[in-house]
Amino acid sequence: MSTDVMIYASDLTKSYGSFRALDKVNFEVRRGEIVGFLGPNGAGKSTTMRILTCFIAPTSGKVRVHGFDVFEDPLPVRESLGYLPQRAPLYLELNVYEYLKFCADLRHLDADVFKRRAKSVVEVCGLAQVLTQDIRSLSHGYRQRVGLAQALIHDPPILILDEPTSDLDPNEKAEFLDYLKQIGRERTVLLSTHNLKEVEIACARAIIVSRGRVVADGQLDEIRARSGRVRYVVSVQESAADSPYRGKGTPPGQREVEDAFNKVAGVQKITELPTDERAHAYELTSEKDVDIRPDLFRMVADRGWVLLELHRDTQTLEDVFRHLTIGEERRNRQVGGAPPPPRDDEDEDDSDEDDDEDEDEKRP
Ligand SMILES: Nc1ncnc2c1ncn2[C@@H]1O[C@H](COP(=O)(O)OP(=O)(O)O)[C@@H](O)[C@H]1O
Ligand SMILES: [Mg+2]
Repeated sequence: MSTDVMIYASDLTKSYGSFRALDKVNFEVRRGEIVGFLGPNGAGKSTTMRILTCFIAPTSGKVRVHGFDVFEDPLPVRESLGYLPQRAPLYLELNVYEYLKFCADLRHLDADVFKRRAKSVVEVCGLAQVLTQDIRSLSHGYRQRVGLAQALIHDPPILILDEPTSDLDPNEKAEFLDYLKQIGRERTVLLSTHNLKEVEIACARAIIVSRGRVVADGQLDEIRARSGRVRYVVSVQESAADSPYRGKGTPPGQREVEDAFNKVAGVQKITELPTDERAHAYELTSEKDVDIRPDLFRMVADRGWVLLELHRDTQTLEDVFRHLTIGEERRNRQVGGAPPPPRDDEDEDDSDEDDDEDEDEKRP
């Protein structure tokens, strides 16, 4: 394995009882990459991250972080990592400085190193104004910045961030991503999210997981091109009392329009789109290397129908994501058909799943 591989997962499998949350997941993250770890809810993102950070053990498979095996060498793994769980585990009664000091003490940073590191993380996470404020009094956005600061306090080469922006408002999100971009210049980052815009802003590469499996892994452009299809939106005016069809063509019925589109060479799939009663609108897909617009236009014109709209887009990351993961999050992946077991949130691995209530005690 190259020394540049900072995170390595091979055939990573995790079962909760008979429910398989991860099923032979394979991926690598190299030094300096910021990788988006994408997937719908329940795909297995947090489970993967908890294994990488030594919070839970895999059922089988190999995982190395910074070259160390999570089973054999968990201590150097933890030293190499900064981890921000989905719910940042903060002590609300401490102020920001006290909390960072507490996290530094847990990691045995000596006083001088702490001072230097605190100065740097306070600056990079934009915390100078709130340093002596109790965490309880901070907004979600600031709390996430504090969470990020604790993940960075020991200057780890690798950061694992589990949906860090999911509770933030749009301004807070944008700010957080700015901080992340700065931080990511010198670090390897795995960022889980189901927000594709964030991945497009912050990452060059994404790994998409669905139902516990990796369904795509590559540079964003490669993933976008991957489905090899393009999409068209076309709408045709429907019959109406004051329609331009009077005395000219024949007003088309829905079935007629659909049949006509189906006959156009290259059309792969037709989906009706909602419209008012004046139009029939459809989404069509075709192969990437054919352009069916001329044939669509001619077909509509030959019949004397009125074309209201015709446009073509290549697939966005969102389309590909939906195509690869749609419906998957709800499907039961258990062999034998019984539903997944209730989550056992009391066990050792779930300290980060507590409700985010102010009164809750949090473990860092
Ligand atoms: N401690 C647990 N006990 C039982 N099932 C769990 C537990 N943790 C996660 N799961 C299940 O495993 C699947 C993956 O969960 P998770 O990794 O949290 O997904 P994601 O972070 O992608 O939303 C989900 O179906 C979830 O309900
Ligand atoms: Mg999760």
